[in-house]
Amino acid sequence: MDCLVLQGGRPLSGSVEVSGAKNAALPLMAATLLAPGEHVITRVPRLADTQTMVRVLEALGAKIHWDATTMRIDTSTCSSVEAPYDLVKTMRASVYVLGPLLARFGRARVSLPGGCAWGPRPVDLHLKSMEALGATIEIDEGYIVATAPPAVGATQGSSLRGTRFTFPISSVGATGNLLMAAVLARGISVVENAAIEPEITQLAEYLVVMGANIEGIGTTRLEIEGVDTLSPARVEVIPDRIEAATYLVGGAITLGDVTITRCQPGHLAASLGALEAMGSKITINGLAITLQSGGRPRAADIATAVYPGFATDMQAQMMALAAIADGVSVITDTIYHDRFSHAPELARMGADIRVVDNVATVHGRTRLKGAPVMATDLRASAALVLAGLAAEGETVVSRIYHLDRGYENLAAKLATLGARVERRPE
Ligand code: UD1
Repeated sequence: MDCLVLQGGRPLSGSVEVSGAKNAALPLMAATLLAPGEHVITRVPRLADTQTMVRVLEALGAKIHWDATTMRIDTSTCSSVEAPYDLVKTMRASVYVLGPLLARFGRARVSLPGGCAWGPRPVDLHLKSMEALGATIEIDEGYIVATAPPAVGATQGSSLRGTRFTFPISSVGATGNLLMAAVLARGISVVENAAIEPEITQLAEYLVVMGANIEGIGTTRLEIEGVDTLSPARVEVIPDRIEAATYLVGGAITLGDVTITRCQPGHLAASLGALEAMGSKITINGLAITLQSGGRPRAADIATAVYPGFATDMQAQMMALAAIADGVSVITDTIYHDRFSHAPELARMGADIRVVDNVATVHGRTRLKGAPVMATDLRASAALVLAGLAAEGETVVSRIYHLDRGYENLAAKLATLGARVERRPE
């Protein structure tokens, strides 16, 4: 296992290119199951999570060639419908194969993901939406067993039929799964309170390129008219808005000057607004964003919300910034109430953070001090790296396999920005 060793206190400066979005690549990869044949997905980030999805698809029988960031997935050879526990337990997003398998084969056996580092994270909405489409769901030895058998004599297809489904709360993953199942269901489905995160919008657009009929893309009301078959297609993964915003926070927290390129500024509006509120100067130039620090950041209140609100996936990183801000910041996570494992680790570096329920109160300090720290999830680990970049002295972030799940070439990209960072065995 590797750790990241940071010598903090140097302003980041320069320019770094954003990778493709992990959270867009994963559902796109799963969607290839819907249409037998060769799909091409470009700008796939090389991450532990995309690698895990490769293994899930291979376990289902797909053939995959991954050259640099271009992935060719041939799903004509798929025959298994089982996503095994040893893969799903390492990545919850494996559950994205449920909808496609059910729609294509009329059955799926997908391990239940279990808990995660910040709470139970149920999949009940995934299951309810499949039931609404007419599937039967059972839990067997830790597996979701979903069936909607095809017509007698048919080897492919399902008995899924269009439905009306209103999500009681917005769910990115469950919206994705429902979409992927409904595009091959018989008849019309109307989905209310659908997630409108850019990653889901891209999934819907990809399904349309494959031949699906979907109205209302980008809105919370989707209308899907099922088709009999879909065709393989080609897609470029959208830029990672969370990775992009993380590097911008790196500029703000080190009082530096950072440009990110090949990003989609419109997807980052909430993060950019928060950074401006905290005193950074933001300049957008086409697909590039430059952040210039305005000196020590000002405190701000932040509450996470579904898109286009402030992303829960940026909450930890902004808490690191608040830790050195002038004044008291109140940070509320309305999506995941337990997602604060970074707070006690930031405290080890001198941050003053009090968490009550889902609200963190951060009294900004003039400086943080390097320390050995570790985190139990991806974005919490990113927050510790950011704090380490700003802190005096040396910070060692261990368990960085979490970072490998979501940040492509993190150490190299930080080094490009002038950070003193080294990856080495723990
Ligand atoms: C996705 C992102 C994750 C991000 C999250 C919220 C991927 C691979 N992951 O996760 O990085 O933090 O969106 O933006 O894209 N819920 C239920 N029942 C369900 C499903 C969800 O109660 O069946 C709840 C969750 O516990 C949570 C809320 O719904 O409170 C939103 O979760 P959801 O949008 O589904 O998150 P994921 O798709 O798992």
